[in-house]
Amino acid sequence: MAQLVTLRGDSSVLTAAMAEFWGSVIVERELGATLRNSRDKMWVVAFFDGSTIGFSGIVSGSHFCSAYVLPAFRQRGVYGEMIQERLAVTSGTVTTIASEASRTALVRSGFAQTGKRGRFFKMELVR
Ligand SMILES: CC(C)(COP(=O)(O)OP(=O)(O)OC[C@H]1O[C@@H](n2cnc3c(N)ncnc32)[C@H](O)[C@@H]1OP(=O)(O)O)[C@@H](O)C(=O)NCCC(=O)NCCS
Repeated sequence: MAQLVTLRGDSSVLTAAMAEFWGSVIVERELGATLRNSRDKMWVVAFFDGSTIGFSGIVSGSHFCSAYVLPAFRQRGVYGEMIQERLAVTSGTVTTIASEASRTALVRSGFAQTGKRGRFFKMELVR
């Protein structure tokens, strides 16, 4: 359904695609963290009909972060596709801090829980 595009943090396409999300209190409340960008961060952005419907990041080459899908597009596998796309552009062991809602798709992709941090779960996939 979604079209996935991998973009670097310093891409002008990324800046435009994420314009409505930077600084969004609603997004940050669900993420449980501030949405940050940096030049060396990579993003997989999900588009539908030319609009951004989801995004997810990779920092330090191997840590998955900042995953979000607009509520109207959830439960259709968009996040699962973004996990697969990020796995395709990384190698070796990857880590992430998962919310309850994101755990199902991560486990399906082979991640295992390694700990807890508040309401979030430390997850890892060893390859
Ligand atoms: C987490 C999130 C990205 C998932 O996006 P999505 O596109 O709906 O995910 P998918 O459709 O690929 O997979 C969803 C799976 O998780 C399950 N799931 C969804 N919400 C859940 C919840 N609250 N508790 C447990 N499982 C849940 C679904 O049942 C589904 O599994 P299924 O295919 O067996 O039915 C989205 O809910 C979101 O943006 N949440 C708010 C931000 C967030 O939590 N980000 C993750 C930070 S690590």
